Amino acid sequence: MSGLIDQADPAVAPAPSVVAPMPSVVTPRIFAIANQKGGVGKTTTAINLATALAAVERKVLVIDLDPQGNASTGLGIEKNRRAIGSYQVLIGAATLTEATIPTAIPGLDIVPSSIDLSGAELELFDLERREFRLREAFAHLPGDYQYVLIDCPPALGLLTLNAMVAADAVVVPLQCEFLALEGLSQLTRTIERVRKAFNPKLELQGIVLTMFDSRNNLSALVANDVRNFFGDKVYRTMIPRNVRVSEAPSHGKPVLLYDLRCPGSQAYIHLAGEMLRRVEHAA
Ligand SMILES: Nc1ncnc2c1ncn2[C@@H]1O[C@H](COP(=O)(O)OP(=O)(O)OP(=O)(O)O)[C@@H](O)[C@H]1O
Ligand SMILES: [Mg+2]
Repeated sequence: MSGLIDQADPAVAPAPSVVAPMPSVVTPRIFAIANQKGGVGKTTTAINLATALAAVERKVLVIDLDPQGNASTGLGIEKNRRAIGSYQVLIGAATLTEATIPTAIPGLDIVPSSIDLSGAELELFDLERREFRLREAFAHLPGDYQYVLIDCPPALGLLTLNAMVAADAVVVPLQCEFLALEGLSQLTRTIERVRKAFNPKLELQGIVLTMFDSRNNLSALVANDVRNFFGDKVYRTMIPRNVRVSEAPSHGKPVLLYDLRCPGSQAYIHLAGEMLRRVEHAA
């Protein structure tokens, strides 16, 4: 390509930027997918949002920061491919480049988690700059990722703290059930504290209502309350309760690959579209 440009008559040659776009430096948007409550759809959202973003040609990295390793399992990463992962990155035994492996989905890579991570909270406690371990690892981020989604464990401990200190914003999956708002206020207070103490740019990116059941009045009431309180922060797309979503992980696949047409897949595609409009149009 450059040879052709060199040989062309400068008077008629197109500007180089027309022939080959200038490589732009990509700054990834880093989102922590967090909620201290267990089983609300964090991992399902991380996996399927990542897949839907990769499907529209964004380059995406998932970091599995949960010792349960559900994001690694759900993206089909066998146990023998998890020897180097988020634990090694946090303790400084590996760089993010060394810990990143491809998934079967083009454009989607993962830093897997292994069972070692279950001891990490205690080990990290004695390490210097314990809240900044992941953030500092991003200095060696491989590739040209546009989105990094960090799947957090169901607790507000040092692992989630590392995710929030490294992130630009927090995406909160919220199950529409009794007391959902109470848990949410604890989470927003934590985000506020992290912003003040460690990461002034941290924002609440958005709230995703998950496992929404249109036949259940409580689901609608809670969704309404959350929208009244958090306004535009709540994504319009709601993820419906859908059995295909819960079947997919046992096949090591995101639901988008398992059954593209099911309501759960369609909802995650809509969610990704809404996120892209929010994030990229605002830029
Ligand atoms: N939209 C949905 N419809 C049906 N089942 C769902 C849906 N979303 C998630 N699930 C199922 O609910 C369970 C919890 O979801 P998930 O693992 O994503 O939650 P989590 O918040 O990551 O949990 P943990 O706190 O343990 O990490 C899983 O079995 C998952 O397959
Ligand atoms: Mg999970």
